[in-house]
Amino acid sequence: MLELKLVLLLLLSVFPEGLAAPSQVPVQLPESQIKPHKLQGRFLHITDIHPDPHYRDGGSEKSACHRKKQKKAKRRGGYYGLPYSSKCDSPFSLSNFTLDFLDKEWSSEIDFVIWTGDSARHDNDRKRPRTTAEIYELNRILSNKMETVFSSKGIPVVPSIGNNDVWPHNIMMPGPNSVTSEFSSIWRSFVPFESYQVFQRGGYFSVEVIPNAVAAISLNTMYFYDSNKAVGGCEYANPEDPGNLQFDWLEVQLETFRERGMQTVISGHVPPSSYNFFPECYVRYVNLSLKYQDTILGHFFGHMNADHFFFLEANDLSNEPRRTNDTDSDKVGTLKKRKALYNGLLQDFSELPKSSQNTNHGDYGVVNVSPSVVPNPYLPSFRIFTYNTTGTPYHPGHFGDEDREQLVTGGGDSLLTAQRLRDGEAAGCDERGNNSTQACRSRNWHSSPQSPSRSNRLWTLLGYAQYYLPKLENSDEKRRPKYKLEYMTYPVAKLHPPEAASEAKFHYPIPLKQLPRSLRNATIKESKFAPYGMADLTIPSWLELARRLGDSAETKLRKRFKKYMYMGAGGE
Ligand SMILES: *[C@@H]1O[C@H](CO)[C@@H](O)[C@H](O)[C@H]1NC(C)=O
Ligand SMILES: *[C@@H]1O[C@H](CO)[C@@H](O)[C@H](O)[C@H]1NC(C)=O
Ligand SMILES: *[C@@H]1O[C@H](CO)[C@@H](O)[C@H](O)[C@H]1NC(C)=O
Ligand SMILES: *[C@@H]1O[C@H](CO)[C@@H](O)[C@H](O)[C@H]1NC(C)=O
Ligand SMILES: *[C@@H]1O[C@H](CO)[C@@H](O)[C@H](O)[C@H]1NC(C)=O
Ligand SMILES: *[C@@H]1O[C@H](CO)[C@@H](O)[C@H](O)[C@H]1NC(C)=O
Ligand SMILES: *[C@@H]1O[C@H](CO)[C@@H](O)[C@H](O)[C@H]1NC(C)=O
Repeated sequence: MLELKLVLLLLLSVFPEGLAAPSQVPVQLPESQIKPHKLQGRFLHITDIHPDPHYRDGGSEKSACHRKKQKKAKRRGGYYGLPYSSKCDSPFSLSNFTLDFLDKEWSSEIDFVIWTGDSARHDNDRKRPRTTAEIYELNRILSNKMETVFSSKGIPVVPSIGNNDVWPHNIMMPGPNSVTSEFSSIWRSFVPFESYQVFQRGGYFSVEVIPNAVAAISLNTMYFYDSNKAVGGCEYANPEDPGNLQFDWLEVQLETFRERGMQTVISGHVPPSSYNFFPECYVRYVNLSLKYQDTILGHFFGHMNADHFFFLEANDLSNEPRRTNDTDSDKVGTLKKRKALYNGLLQDFSELPKSSQNTNHGDYGVVNVSPSVVPNPYLPSFRIFTYNTTGTPYHPGHFGDEDREQLVTGGGDSLLTAQRLRDGEAAGCDERGNNSTQACRSRNWHSSPQSPSRSNRLWTLLGYAQYYLPKLENSDEKRRPKYKLEYMTYPVAKLHPPEAASEAKFHYPIPLKQLPRSLRNATIKESKFAPYGMADLTIPSWLELARRLGDSAETKLRKRFKKYMYMGAGGE
């Protein structure tokens, strides 16, 4: 650590304030890694790894795969885990396998990593209760691995605290406390120096994953999660509530990044839904998401272990917030709840305005929930998102020393200023002259059809490919499992853009070698891997997909959506 401190001192003297805001350089990294990378236009979202040091190959499911006894046990864990299990967590062989795979196959293809928590096992075995020390130790092991695989190559990692990363699970007191202090230490190479003080208090931070251009905001959802009985849940009457303090901070972050013409990705563990958040926290989340719609590229969460997406809607702001009495922390645990999630989403989708013309896109935000690495209750998986870098000096193949200089000294701003949404353009909410616009104006929301969350332009999310580990049950120490493409949001045509044929250094959305053989052929027109055919991941594109899913005549599409949600387990 001595070495790191030295580097830090060195950097602070090399970059005095004024020349470059300190936040523009990942100060914790050794100097050799400061140099900005060619942008690949991709990032990884990985979540809910749940490593379990007590996992035994051959352990019975009943014992959470901890003990081999019980001769009659029907289901036993394998070397790489037990798929579709409601009890067993990830053996280290699985978390190692996954991160080693990402190291080898993806680390040179991505720009940053969103890692949304639950990096310790569940409290799933009475005979082996979890301890604080074990939870921190597991987090430390995974953080070290993340450092080796990503940070050491200059790829920022953006972790967040999960409901199983604290003891007892779900409960986290207002900070500063031992949790925030311990994670400051475990995540010292992920949390930027300037964020330390805030992190010590609340367990949240932001980091410029693309200096001067895109920031990742890691939220501590423990202060919003309605299973955390140690906090009040953003009660209006208590401005000192840790959830309220976090939203105050978030608003300042969004405002500041907006003023600088930057974009953000927001990430955290527990998704901001009305069934997970305290009602007042939910309302504040929706309010802020819509107010800064022109500054937020997307919302990325985990926790549910089930692939889905949902909307944050202006409608939710007019209803009186309701407190539920749900004390069950495992919201997807039971079959009934899993079915309820699917049916509930389709219901919501069916209630959307029936056409794009009748929709005020300023009234929506989209939350992407990624499935987990732990095969509980489905299969291990991760997502690779792509975003638009066209026309930037960062674009691969166009990156020279001059650009590098600009990026480090903050001169890259000039490019971004050109893209910046001037207030006249942005503050008008929507170009439409009806009521919703009036409401929007009076709320002073920043939304614009010209923002990257609304139409394809610089930094717009273009799509994702989801990889998973099928046939986990057939693998063992000798027969390693294989990560395969499960599906992607892109239309097939986007995989082989016309430039690919002519430009030698052409950059594919998905590297060809990461595609199944059938998709490498540029003449292919249709594929089972491309069920959604989304042009991009803008809010209008998500609403379009949801509208289709909300239509009961779309049986085929619905079937696919459900299949991905439960990874083939059906939910029946
Ligand atoms: C996982 O990897 C770590 C090193 O990163 C190693 O120490 C450990 O033995 C590995 N465990 C398994 C089960 O492969
Ligand atoms: C949304 O936030 C603004 C402050 O930014 C506040 O005035 C307004 O009351 C909030 N709306 C709701 C429904 O909470
Ligand atoms: C929820 O709790 C409140 C107050 O404790 C109680 O009045 C209400 O009946 C409960 N509702 C349900 C559905 O259990
Ligand atoms: C709002 O404006 C859009 C676009 O002009 C229009 O289609 C829609 O009907 C309007 N809604 C109302 C309530 O006037
Ligand atoms: C706008 O809202 C007002 C009050 O809610 C309502 O009376 C009016 O009919 C609405 N106008 C349109 C065009 O929707
Ligand atoms: C990125 O946005 C630009 C407009 O700014 C557009 O011309 C280009 O096609 C987009 N790139 C991709 C890959 O969609
Ligand atoms: C690609 O597909 C076309 C049409 O099915 C086929 O003729 C061609 O041989 C394929 N190319 C390769 C390289 O497999």
